[in-house]
Amino acid sequence: MSSLQNKKIILGITGSIAAYKAAQLVRLLAKSGAEVQVLMTDAATGFITPLTLSTLSKRPVLTGIHTEEGWNNHVELGLWADALVIAPLTATTLAKLSMGIADNILAAVYLSARCPVFFAPAMDLDMWKHPAVQGHVERLQSFGNHLIPVGYGELASGLTGEGRMAEPEEIVRLLEEFLAKKQDLTGKKILITAGPTYEPIDPVRFVGNRSSGRMGVALANAAARRGASVTLILGPSKLSPTEPSVETIRVETAQQMYDQALRCFPAADAAIMAAAVADYRPAEVADEKIKKAGEEMNIRLVKNPDIAATLGSRKQPGQIIIGFALETNNEADNAREKLLKKNMDCIVLNSLRDAGAGFDVPTNRVMLLFKDNNSLHFELKHKDAVAEDILDAAVRLWNVSSTI
Ligand code: CTP
Repeated sequence: MSSLQNKKIILGITGSIAAYKAAQLVRLLAKSGAEVQVLMTDAATGFITPLTLSTLSKRPVLTGIHTEEGWNNHVELGLWADALVIAPLTATTLAKLSMGIADNILAAVYLSARCPVFFAPAMDLDMWKHPAVQGHVERLQSFGNHLIPVGYGELASGLTGEGRMAEPEEIVRLLEEFLAKKQDLTGKKILITAGPTYEPIDPVRFVGNRSSGRMGVALANAAARRGASVTLILGPSKLSPTEPSVETIRVETAQQMYDQALRCFPAADAAIMAAAVADYRPAEVADEKIKKAGEEMNIRLVKNPDIAATLGSRKQPGQIIIGFALETNNEADNAREKLLKKNMDCIVLNSLRDAGAGFDVPTNRVMLLFKDNNSLHFELKHKDAVAEDILDAAVRLWNVSSTI
């Protein structure tokens, strides 16, 4: 069965020659079992008639904010839809959406919609490449809207290049893929720590480690895609989450990460501690750059607070904590000891002995250890896939705790 079955889809059509493909798009959506409400801008009606589209969608097509019968409720429509698809999207409407100008029914519904939004631009190649257009595309993506990439080929102008609207089959395939994804973390609040911490020695030097933050950022993206509301406390990492709904709090030191984690934890359903927190920090931080002097230099280090252990001691029923252990020897025993000591529910063990696992590589090979002595072993896989396995474990832990 298609994941579009019984889904409510608003299709917004704007004034491009590619609007003729909208007829096929409506037909394919309807065939997949979706209920389709078509909205058109005035310009779109010059390319394809509302009658064609209302016949195919079996619903009246809306072309204006007002009709003779009254006002079209854009707020209600925005809330009704499971997805809003704008195909084709012209440069003009793109700019309106980016700037929040609601002078037609489509733009008004766009601003009121809470559902995922997909947009399939259609333009001539030079228009598509123009920084004004690209800037608006980036802005829409920064709002969390999904770009359906343009195709390459012959354009209405006779030129050949990028700018064609994606084919209706491709648009339907992307929608089906999106709707088929698990949304099993909807309503869950997940706190994630990630990246290294830098502990200052003086204004230019620090004690740090090689953590890239990849695993934690992959977890944040995956959890957000599955519907969770995610707060990511991220140490100095070159990476940022790509899912716009992730709330990212940037920190430098273990103490800053600790303060933020403690502040956010009471509201969280789960804390996933993927950060490689520096265990020690310099006891004194010099105000000025330290000059070299003598043959030796000593830096006295003092212990940092343990974030995972502190959260573990404050854990309330219903909250779960998942930690990480990076070990080089006696791996499973060491990891299990950390799990118990820090009052975690699950610990993700990665061994530095495994090729393709560890810091700054795209893959990881992990084992999940649980409080009840159960464990799960996984093969080497991309960190995005490891993130899904860890989140599946979180879902199982919640299910178990809610049945106790
Ligand atoms: N952790 C933390 N705060 C710290 C140290 C560690 O939250 N100050 C978390 C890590 O994010 C990880 C887990 O605790 O989830 C285990 O970290 P690790 O550094 O391997 O364990 P330690 O207890 O510091 O043990 P050791 O370094 O001696 O192996």
